[in-house]
Amino acid sequence: MHNTRKINEDLFYIGVSDRKIALFENVYPVCEGMSYNSYLLDDEKTVLFDTVDKACSGQFFDNLNKVLNSRPLDYIVINHLEPDHSALIKDVIDKYPNIKIVCNQKAKQMLFQFFEFENDIENNFQIVKEGDTLTIGKHVLTFVMAPMVHWPETMVTYDSYNKTLFSADAFGAFGAINGNLFDCEVDFICKIDEYRRYYSNIVGKYGTQVNMLLNKAKNLDIKMICPLHGLVIKENISYLMEKYNLWANYLPEDDSVVIAYASVYGGTQNAVEILANKLAQKGVKNIKIYDVSHTHSSYIISEVFRCSKVVLASTTYNNSIFVKMEHLIKDIVSHNIQNRKFGIIENGTWACCSGELIKEMLKNLKNVEFLDEKISIKSALKKIQENDIDEMVKCLM
Ligand code: FEO
Repeated sequence: MHNTRKINEDLFYIGVSDRKIALFENVYPVCEGMSYNSYLLDDEKTVLFDTVDKACSGQFFDNLNKVLNSRPLDYIVINHLEPDHSALIKDVIDKYPNIKIVCNQKAKQMLFQFFEFENDIENNFQIVKEGDTLTIGKHVLTFVMAPMVHWPETMVTYDSYNKTLFSADAFGAFGAINGNLFDCEVDFICKIDEYRRYYSNIVGKYGTQVNMLLNKAKNLDIKMICPLHGLVIKENISYLMEKYNLWANYLPEDDSVVIAYASVYGGTQNAVEILANKLAQKGVKNIKIYDVSHTHSSYIISEVFRCSKVVLASTTYNNSIFVKMEHLIKDIVSHNIQNRKFGIIENGTWACCSGELIKEMLKNLKNVEFLDEKISIKSALKKIQENDIDEMVKCLM
């Protein structure tokens, strides 16, 4: 049976939530599921904005059929060709062979990379460029290119009639839709962690390109954002834009400390627990400690985006950095983290070298500062090293 929702007079939500998925993109844990949002505009012409993941095909077509109510589907707008949104495009084209496919040249190229079509669909395409418009009745759609937010073909679509931005991956989040489709139906501020984790891991690397999109968005009067994942945003547009401004410029939200550690027998953990305790007593709020062996790096990357200071503490392992810590640091580097202060704690029972190796991996990040002294532990922290911890606390204040 269909499961749709009317958004306003002629716009319908026809997306689907996947609660069986464990790892989004086969990488990111999504213990609260994932929504794949799709929208149908029912004006003089009918317009479908993107499709959903293949796993959700049955529900999607039930929804589409219900809202179309036997009308033909005139247009499909492809804002983003990643398969979590494009997997059913071929099925849609097969079902509606006269449909106009509205997309940019790059998306067209990618469409043929993902699909082989039995029929010639060349005449179905309506290729759009920056600022092109499409009038479908009282709604006028304007296409705005957003390359690398999240793939090179990504674009967003602005509907000037009801001032809605169909924002592709931008302004999305991990998590299924739990009945409540709109931000005003939930305690949105409480959900910001999953918005940040989604942003930082999915498009965090592309801050420059996100900034370009944000600058374009400033020229649009946006009253509603319809992203491809997560809630439809009406009441928290400014709040989310402000967060995106910080995230895209790699500026921390909080003057706080995130501590990630790798510890085999507890010596390194002991040191970071003492460090966090002392930081808290000096007034630092919202400190987070993560064991890299237990917490997926996507959560830690998100906290690195939130906090102004980062402490990495690792045992030496195989004459290198502990493997899970090395993975996290690679992730930090590949997400282009900037404007942070890093503290380093190393440990080793013999041939301790993880500290220098960590610094080496991070040294090319832009505008990062390293605390002058690293803390070096031989197996376990000694009473005499409390001074070292106190010094690190001072430097982190
Ligand atoms: Fe939700 Fe980049 O796909």
